[in-house]
Amino acid sequence: MQGRLKLALAAAALLMTVGNGAIFAQQQKSDRAAKPAAPKPMSAQAKRGRYLVQTSGCNDCHTNPPFAAGGNPFLGEPKIINAAHFLAGGTEFGPVVSANITPDENGRPAGLTLEKFLSAMRTGRDPEDGHILQVMPWPIFGEMIERDLEAIYEYLSAIPRATPGP
Ligand code: HEC
Repeated sequence: MQGRLKLALAAAALLMTVGNGAIFAQQQKSDRAAKPAAPKPMSAQAKRGRYLVQTSGCNDCHTNPPFAAGGNPFLGEPKIINAAHFLAGGTEFGPVVSANITPDENGRPAGLTLEKFLSAMRTGRDPEDGHILQVMPWPIFGEMIERDLEAIYEYLSAIPRATPGP
C-alpha cells in the first residue's frame, strides 16, 4: 500500500514538472513573439527627465499649439498634449520663435551635443550664433543641478523627431 502511494505521488510530481515545463515553454514562446512590438524601455534617467520636462513648462512654449483639439485645459477641457508636434517649436513670441528641441537625424535634441545643451541651458547663449536666447527661461533652468539637466537631455533624446506645427 505504502509502496503504491509513493509511486502515485512520484507520478503526480513528475506530471506536475512536465506540465510546468510545458507552460514555461509556452510563456517563453509568447515572450519571444511579443518582443518586436514592445517599445524600447526608457531608462530611469530619461523617466526622470520626462518628469522634469512635464513640470517645467517646456511644452507650453515648444509645442505649437501646446494642446490637441478639444484638449485645452484653459478652455475647461481635459488636457491632451499635441503629440504630433510635441516639442518641435514654431511658437511665435513677437519676433522670437521657439526652437525645435526634438532629436535631429543623429538623435541629438535641437541638434545639440550634451555639452552644448548644458551650455545653452546655463548661459542662455545659442550654441550656433551666440545670441542671447530670448523668452526662454534659461536664467531659471540654468540653476538646475547637472544631473537634472542631463536627465532632460536624455529624455529629449528619446522622444520622436517632429516638425513644428500647425
Ligand atoms: C516661456 C517659454 C519657454 C519655455 C517655458 C521653455 N522654452 Fe526653450 N526656448 C524658448 C524660445 C522662445 C527659444 C528660442 C529663443 C531664441 O532663439 O532667442 C527657446 C530655445 C531653447 C533652446 C535652444 C535651442 C537652440 O538650438 O538654440 C533649448 C535647448 C530649449 N529652449 C530647451 C527648453 C527646455 C528643455 C525647456 C523646459 C525645461 C524649455 N526650453 C522651456 C521658449 C521657452
